[in-house]
Amino acid sequence: MAGKSESAAQGDAGAPSPDLVVVANRLPVDLERLPDGSTRWKRSPGGLVTALEPVLRRNHGAWVGWPGVPDAEVDPIVEDGLTLHPVTLSARDVAKYYEGFSNGTLWPLYHDVVVKPVFDRAWWNTYVDVNRRFAEATAKVAAEGATVWVQDYQLQLVPKMLRMLRPDLTIGFFQHIPFPPVEIFMQLPWRAEIIEGLLGADLVGFHLPGGAQNFVYLANRLGGHPVSRTQIGVRSRFGEVQVGFRTVRAGAFPISIASSELDELSKSRSVRQRARQIRQELGNPRRIMLGVDRLDYTKGIDIRLSAVRELLEEGRLDPKDNVFVQLATPSRERVEHYMHMRDEIERQVGRINGDYGEVGHPVVHYLHRPIPRNELIAFFVAADVMLVTPVRDGMNLVAKEYVACRSDLGGALLLSEFTGAATELRQAYLVNPHDLDGVKDMLLAALDQAPEEGRKRMRALRRQVLAHDVDRWARAFLNALAETPQAGETGASLQR
Ligand code: ADP
Ligand code: F6P
Repeated sequence: MAGKSESAAQGDAGAPSPDLVVVANRLPVDLERLPDGSTRWKRSPGGLVTALEPVLRRNHGAWVGWPGVPDAEVDPIVEDGLTLHPVTLSARDVAKYYEGFSNGTLWPLYHDVVVKPVFDRAWWNTYVDVNRRFAEATAKVAAEGATVWVQDYQLQLVPKMLRMLRPDLTIGFFQHIPFPPVEIFMQLPWRAEIIEGLLGADLVGFHLPGGAQNFVYLANRLGGHPVSRTQIGVRSRFGEVQVGFRTVRAGAFPISIASSELDELSKSRSVRQRARQIRQELGNPRRIMLGVDRLDYTKGIDIRLSAVRELLEEGRLDPKDNVFVQLATPSRERVEHYMHMRDEIERQVGRINGDYGEVGHPVVHYLHRPIPRNELIAFFVAADVMLVTPVRDGMNLVAKEYVACRSDLGGALLLSEFTGAATELRQAYLVNPHDLDGVKDMLLAALDQAPEEGRKRMRALRRQVLAHDVDRWARAFLNALAETPQAGETGASLQR
């Protein structure tokens, strides 16, 4: 078979080669170096891992990814039905490929240019190089005719590179963040190369139909238009792009969570008890507002803090019986915009507490660290209003997690219209995060909702989230991938 290495038959970890391989920037666990020089594994941050880990474990698949720290030479690990294949990144790779091109260029560009993207040629060169190494690592691991599912904006060149190394594979790609409209995407100096990279897949998935449409439009424009640097010979109709003899499909597959598992956990006696205890520890306020995010400038944490601050200033929110808890997991801490944003948020928190808190009774409780899963669920159960206010978010799984945890039909979800989740969660209190007065009014409406109105909304939200779980998402994508013309030829088959 073309390009297939010795180790592909047996897999590097001694386990049989998998029929399903996920390739993502990060492994589902990060290696942590402790002060005494020892190491341990901890769960990786973000929605991608939350969504994919349970699916892959069930399929006894393999996961190719970076262990989260520079220069970590780690052997493959087989754990509970899942084989992890680490890809080593040097400190330079991390700076230029991950912090640089992925999170200093693509992330802001794809999120509505909310901060200015940096276009740096050295970052791009490292992005190409690291994508090649991910493709090579995957080519070694995947069984003959296997299905490979490449994830997210950090690895957009992998589909084409992998296809060249292993034409026998069926290759899917899923974009977990928004895919921008042409006016924005065309700023990228390497726009044609990115589109070409993605066109190496048989199926390219997005959260929303708009993302798929943007991609198909761009594939046409960059394939046949004079601005294109390379000729990739593309002609297409909606949802399909013809690349030479191959047909590439594009479609919308809104991601979700393991809803029933969360629903069950949230009903447990220990979680209920902890939720009551949290309320007590917060001083038994009448109402608890909650934010749960990676500390990212797209999440609109500053907007909710401004809304709370202005409502306190105007006397519309009483600091004696309302608290706001913001749980913020550290993220991309060496990227400049993230450093500024952290300073700004901590300044806002300090100012609100300085003006409106009392000794032993702050209005805003702010934790800058990852919270253990069960503790997080207890916070969801305790919260009267969940504040999800991104200025742009591909999906936002936190919104769905909150809903899955409210089997009591209590609580209210304040949700930005600019999240993918807003297209499904129509009964949330929807807000335009750029309209601060609108956010304030809607926050008060959510805080003051009549119990029957709240139950009605939550019932409808839960129906959506429980019926559309992460398994359904993965099945929908993998089934569509198996039905692509190339997969038909290689006969990809999977346990789904
Ligand atoms: P993103 O992928 O941009 O981080 P999502 O909302 O889709 O955003 O997913 C975030 C995931 O990370 C969710 O599963 C959420 O529960 C988890 N998470 C966010 N903040 C924290 C935190 N402070 N502690 C623990 N988990 C968190
Ligand atoms: O979904 C967006 C995403 O960037 C994922 O690719 C990633 O796993 C998650 O957010 C967390 O980001 P990071 O890996 O940069 O900490």
